[in-house]
Amino acid sequence: MSNKHKIGILGFGCVGQGLYDVLQHNQLLEIANICVKDKEKERPLPATAFTFDAQQLLQDDSIDLLAELISDPKEAYLLVKQALLEGKTVVSANKKMIAENLPELVQLQQQYKGVLLYEAAVCGSIPILRTLEAYYSTEPLKEVSGILNGSSNYILHKLDTENLSYEEALHQAQALGFAETDPTLDVGGYDALHKICIIAAHAFGVVVPLQKVLRFGISRVSTQDVALAQAVGARIKLVASAKINNLGELEVQVLPTFVFPDNELYYVHAEFNGVQLDARFAGSQFLKGRGAGSHPTGSAVWADVSAALAGYKYTYPKLQAATTPVAADATLRVYLRLAAQNGELPNLPWHEVTSFGVNSQVVQLVGTILRSDLLQHQQELEARGAFIAQLPDELAEEELLRAAIATELVAA
Ligand code: HSE
Repeated sequence: MSNKHKIGILGFGCVGQGLYDVLQHNQLLEIANICVKDKEKERPLPATAFTFDAQQLLQDDSIDLLAELISDPKEAYLLVKQALLEGKTVVSANKKMIAENLPELVQLQQQYKGVLLYEAAVCGSIPILRTLEAYYSTEPLKEVSGILNGSSNYILHKLDTENLSYEEALHQAQALGFAETDPTLDVGGYDALHKICIIAAHAFGVVVPLQKVLRFGISRVSTQDVALAQAVGARIKLVASAKINNLGELEVQVLPTFVFPDNELYYVHAEFNGVQLDARFAGSQFLKGRGAGSHPTGSAVWADVSAALAGYKYTYPKLQAATTPVAADATLRVYLRLAAQNGELPNLPWHEVTSFGVNSQVVQLVGTILRSDLLQHQQELEARGAFIAQLPDELAEEELLRAAIATELVAA
């Protein structure tokens, strides 16, 4: 009788194939079967390796673990829920599904004694959840922030270093298997939002309602914005952050940000991700690694498979003890560029605002505004093609304006 563990794989896309490849290096695991949807698609394995019926895997009691690696979050939710109701052991890479259903998934594990691990859902190959769960199970954290979406970072890096157009860079990110089936999830900032909310649950014990988080992506970034950042010595990065403010409340947001060379994130290139941790006693740490791609993500799934089969599970120590409230509001300083309407500034409740490039087509400004006010006007700004980026306090407004004028980047 074989003493190998048997696993069933649901999905054979970029991550499923990555897992299959890395498992060729593991002698103690046997793949029972792989469930796929499309009957017509050509695949690199014989037809006998596949089934089209997920229930065949879910009802096979000889299977020790299920790896859920399909892209449809609704379908993934139903399969994972069914497995957890039966007390099974599951690993998943589906960040949207996990972020949208976390309280229920935690409760199902507790009630039915199943196990769900999902390291591969957050930052690809970086072991961030294991670090938060196991190492920082008790020490309070002040901040976890970083670049959590490989596709957006790949696009921004290409715009910054190779003068590629946005469309070309996105096309490459898709061709290399970094982007989601629907790339809006990447470039709209939703994927980073899902990841930072999963991180917030593990790091601070707070389940943050997704719709209450301010989220802008990079889909409207222009070469003009990238050049403006370069002119002041910065790079634009999509930064997701969860941090405790002066009032002891948790602030979560996803925003393009002007990042300078004194910040580790400045050096996170292409599809890499970078996560900064700031702990009360350990101080700051920085983790960097491949955040997307078949083998790096397959490696993270493999690590979860091995850990789960060895008896590891999340205990959500901070979620059990949570008392941290979500912050009501905060003030942000941002750069905003959007299509002009009759040469007027967007009618937002700015605290302070300086426009520096206004013509019949484009408005550029630096403004200070409440996060809640931006959230309230988000749809309208997105409809007007707004690109928005947070500015660090150290960047004096005059410096930005001077650089813009000197490099003729203002919309004259
Ligand atoms: N589309 C995701 C990204 C894949 O680009 O980061 C990894 O989660």
